[in-house]
Amino acid sequence: MEQKIKSIEHEVNSFLVSSKEALENFRLKFISKKGMIPSLFDEMKQASGEEKKKVGKLLNDLKQLAEGKFKAAQEELDNSSIEPADQIDLSLPVVPNKLGNQHPLSLTRHRIIEVFEKLGFNVADGPEIEDDWHNFTALNFPPNHPAREMQDTFFIEKNPDILLRTHTSNVQIRLMKQQKPPIRSIMPGRVYRNEAISARAHCFFHQVEGLYVDKNVGFADLKQTLYHFAQEMYGKDIKIRYRPSFFPFTEPSAEIDISCLICKGAGCNICKHSGWVEIAGSGMVHPNVLKNCGIDPEEYTGFAFGMGIERVTQLLFRVNDLRLYSENDIRFLKQFKTVI
Ligand code: DAH
Repeated sequence: MEQKIKSIEHEVNSFLVSSKEALENFRLKFISKKGMIPSLFDEMKQASGEEKKKVGKLLNDLKQLAEGKFKAAQEELDNSSIEPADQIDLSLPVVPNKLGNQHPLSLTRHRIIEVFEKLGFNVADGPEIEDDWHNFTALNFPPNHPAREMQDTFFIEKNPDILLRTHTSNVQIRLMKQQKPPIRSIMPGRVYRNEAISARAHCFFHQVEGLYVDKNVGFADLKQTLYHFAQEMYGKDIKIRYRPSFFPFTEPSAEIDISCLICKGAGCNICKHSGWVEIAGSGMVHPNVLKNCGIDPEEYTGFAFGMGIERVTQLLFRVNDLRLYSENDIRFLKQFKTVI
């Protein structure tokens, strides 16, 4: 029996395990239930006491040797599973890389920024979690003023009030507190309102705020700036109109409509058969707001506007359900593959 063990040991040592197939053959031959080593263990059972002890030790050593070799070879093969270069078929066509694309709202935001940057506006940012003063009071909404009702608010804490901002106008205040005029900035961002979700409303949406404060800024500057924006965004044929309106933080205030791009003014569902679509609120910054921020309204004037990015996008790409923007449906999102 010792002789047999010796010769199997020799075989184990000289067995070449250079592939997964050879490794399996090695296992079957020596280690598996019907392999040589387990059958030697069976054979050993017939040996006498003294002999059993001796052979048992030799057999255990052999078993360990075979198992050790198996493990080492297995690890080596697993680590070197990369095919050698000469086995790669270089004539095969490349697997195309799937490139993603921007979300339609990002696309629009970037286009808006591009237009205003060319006019000398820079981009500013502000917090989405805001205090009452920056979101309402400094913007000339007195406590309990009914204008607050137009923006149904999510409150995080009461007394002192902390809330999710209802518009990007809070950033106007932060900028005017931090900087001396001239200020020429646009402020894109997300805003929140406590509204039931439907095709036309959502509890969050996006705005771009604009602010221009300097000496001698007048309503004509506001009109021309936004007319230029509308033409850059929607083409030279676009018509624009200013409707008198009310915002506590501007005086005078105007809502800005553009001619409906969907029906070209003939009347459709999007423009509610009026031929016009509202895209922004605007006005001359109220003297009280300038004062609240430490700017002298006798020396400086300014205009401001706020537009909804969803609305601008809807008119660019004819998206008629707001919910599509946040549902993450890839069939919707991949339609916006525009060259960036
Ligand atoms: N903050 C207003 C809103 O969310 C929009 C707005 C109107 C912004 C007039 C302005 C502005 O800066 O001048 O309804």
